[in-house]
Amino acid sequence: MGATHTITFVTAEGDRTPVKTEPGTSFLDAAREAEIDVTATCGARGKCRGCRFKVLKGSVPPPTIMDEVQLGPDEVHEGFRLACQTHVIADTEIMLAPPQAEIGHQILEAGENRSQRTSIEVGSGIEKKFVTAAIPVDEHIQSSDIEEILTATGASQSGSLSPDLLRKLPAVLREKKGAVTVTTFNGDILDIEAGDTTEHKYGMAFDIGTTSIVGGLLDLDSGEQLASVGDINPQSVYGGDLMSRLAFAQFDLTNLRKLRVRAVQAINDQIKEACEKAAVSPEHIYKVVVVGNTAMHHIFLGIDPTYVGLAPYSPSIRNAIEMPARDLLLKSIPNATVCMLPIVAGFVGADAMGTVLATRIFESEEIRVLIDIGTNGEVIMGRKGRLMACSAPAGPALEGAQIKHGMRGAIGAIEKVQIGDDVTCETIGNAPAAGICGSGLIDATASLLKSGILQSSGRFVDKDDKNLPSALAARLSDSRGECGFTLVYAEDSSNDTDITLTQLDIRQLQLAKGAIYSGVLMLQQIMEVPDDEIAELMLAGGFGNYINTKSAVAINLLPSLEKITYVGNAALMGAQMALISELERKRANVIAKEIEHVSLGARAEFQEIFIEAMCFSEDKANDPMAKTGT
Ligand code: FES
Repeated sequence: MGATHTITFVTAEGDRTPVKTEPGTSFLDAAREAEIDVTATCGARGKCRGCRFKVLKGSVPPPTIMDEVQLGPDEVHEGFRLACQTHVIADTEIMLAPPQAEIGHQILEAGENRSQRTSIEVGSGIEKKFVTAAIPVDEHIQSSDIEEILTATGASQSGSLSPDLLRKLPAVLREKKGAVTVTTFNGDILDIEAGDTTEHKYGMAFDIGTTSIVGGLLDLDSGEQLASVGDINPQSVYGGDLMSRLAFAQFDLTNLRKLRVRAVQAINDQIKEACEKAAVSPEHIYKVVVVGNTAMHHIFLGIDPTYVGLAPYSPSIRNAIEMPARDLLLKSIPNATVCMLPIVAGFVGADAMGTVLATRIFESEEIRVLIDIGTNGEVIMGRKGRLMACSAPAGPALEGAQIKHGMRGAIGAIEKVQIGDDVTCETIGNAPAAGICGSGLIDATASLLKSGILQSSGRFVDKDDKNLPSALAARLSDSRGECGFTLVYAEDSSNDTDITLTQLDIRQLQLAKGAIYSGVLMLQQIMEVPDDEIAELMLAGGFGNYINTKSAVAINLLPSLEKITYVGNAALMGAQMALISELERKRANVIAKEIEHVSLGARAEFQEIFIEAMCFSEDKANDPMAKTGT
């Protein structure tokens, strides 16, 4: 092994962090060793530009092909490189690109939706009883503090009490002369406090998504939401999409720990924030319901997710789980029990169960389709008596990753595109364009198709096409063999770069939308359901909430149905329902076992359906009944 080299990370403010590292280490790994956050959306595959840095001093190897592709000749010439692709060969000083702008990132917190219009009988399983217990006085009577409290409450305790509770018991019992409030969850004692605290009974629900973590604090007596919180999932520096996150943790328990700690820290922070907003003591949070996709579920619990990411994508546990918050390192809520909703199978996780509960699809008399569009989308179809589900691995393109000028839905992201004689773009926050987010990508593609710039096969037309207005023809380019269409010229963008959609970007979108749409088509085919028998298509999740459904139908991401509705963050709403109602939580367990899981990749007909679903053509062969012969 050679001598170590010193990499000095310099910030825009001039702060310097020197790190000693072995020759051959990637700059990304060197930064991570030093606990410096680098945006690595693509999971170190050289496909996202998030990890780019500028060499200030010292030397680096010649650019790799991925440096050339992602950064272009100008940036490479200026000394930019990708940290995941560049290896240390000498002492170097570098400046990392600032973390991807997340300001104003669109996070869908819990809001009003159909589940709130469903009447749920509140019954969280948390009971608080105010009693006056005897304080042991007579030596000859064999008793103890806890026995006196149990006698006063008329309860029995089957499980063991937490050591922390036992330690505080003598003082609590005597502080108000035996007047105590005993809190139980389904009969088991969670806490004993001096005096009457029966008014304070709260719980929290969380949806741990790959992109964001959102939560809500609820009053467990009234079911009222007192505060909502949400933020980017801080694991995203280790990979923007699910598969890169899994690849980071696979066969590496240290990396699993890093991911877990970030999720737990985020949740502890959100608990603190929600409690401050609602002026509630974290000690009075007794029940927490958590949903998340299968990978997030496992990582949060500290379960190795390696095999979730490998065929046959088997989770370690599917059943609902209950455990003390302290066992999950949620130190801010010492008295709470954490309940995870069950997993259906494979990637159809506890978040999908949340959406099922919230949308009441299991009670519907008519066939409904529920789609959660995301890096790993889920499609659930059916009605009362029969539900089928599949996961649709759309990949990160719809999150703006692996798109040349892609970005998340944050300030400056192009979200709407109109094409007439020329192009008009709208950005989030009306800021100068910095890139394009998933919903903008869909809108832009629909407009490009409508204006004839993009063919139904997904290829750009020729620049010399006589039917094109000159302003549009000028935006078509063929740089270094790659076709592209400039949406915003450098002088109008925030980063002095042309914001262009490339042929490769369009292909990535085709793969993503093909995955989702083929999930719908496959379930329709198996259940023998033609379009006109579908009463409603419900779009759940953060992404679904922001897309223009007309554009999504125009590019064949969604089937053309009469009724497409947004159902908001249904996963979180489902978690909230399970929080305030034990009946709903138990119902989730039963339904999860009844949902039939379809593994798309294992079906012989999948390849054919997927290829059709990738197509933009209006005359799509999307009548699944044609394939069933019915
Ligand atoms: S390009 Fe390096 S992490 Fe994506």
